[in-house]
Amino acid sequence: MTTRVKVAPSILSADFGRLAAEVKAIEQAGADLVHVDVMDGRFVPNLTIGPLVVEAVKRSTTLPLDVHLMIVEPERYIGDFAKAGASIITVHQETCPHLHRTLQQIRAAGATPSVVLNPATPLSAIEEVLGDVEQVLLMSVNPGFGGQAFIPSTVDKVRRLRALLDGRGRSHVDIEVDGGINPDTAKQVVAAGATVLVAGNAVFKSPDYAKAIAALRP
Ligand code: DX5
Ligand code: ZN
Repeated sequence: MTTRVKVAPSILSADFGRLAAEVKAIEQAGADLVHVDVMDGRFVPNLTIGPLVVEAVKRSTTLPLDVHLMIVEPERYIGDFAKAGASIITVHQETCPHLHRTLQQIRAAGATPSVVLNPATPLSAIEEVLGDVEQVLLMSVNPGFGGQAFIPSTVDKVRRLRALLDGRGRSHVDIEVDGGINPDTAKQVVAAGATVLVAGNAVFKSPDYAKAIAALRP
């Protein structure tokens, strides 16, 4: 069975002065999701956006918003992001001492629960919640900034996660990969079992968004 690979351009690399137009442009260029990177200057060294901007993005597109929370105590803001229009809400395992509860909170807020691991966090950290998520995001860079180099060991991590999900009857769960995705790394992670590709620079720093998005689909 082949699943169509979804492409989620990360607006972190977009021109924020023209955000609505940028989001419309990726929609017209064939994007499947809009990836929104929320950073608090605490879990990661960078600061980005909050629910107000998510709400503005929501108004400018019909694509689902894939909201990646790189913030401490994400449980404090899940309701706000769901209300702002997030379809998928992803929380870092590293920020959630009560991860199971936080994932239930996302579902109760009406969004799709997703969990993410930093490159140094082992898959065993989420084994117990694989039945509670619809997506697992594997970071292929250390979170905080766009434009970093892909960490090659992610490919084997994707392969092992796909096997783990298959073994648990959770084959439908999406595996998303975030960081340093380009046509070459996309091919590698998709072959290993990834189904959603986040791409910041590979899309927004390209002169032709449609071509850039198409080039990521193997
Ligand atoms: C990094 C963010 C990524 C980032 C990816 O912390 O989570 O979504 O925008 O950017 P590229 O594709 O340029 O590595
Ligand atoms: Zn991200």
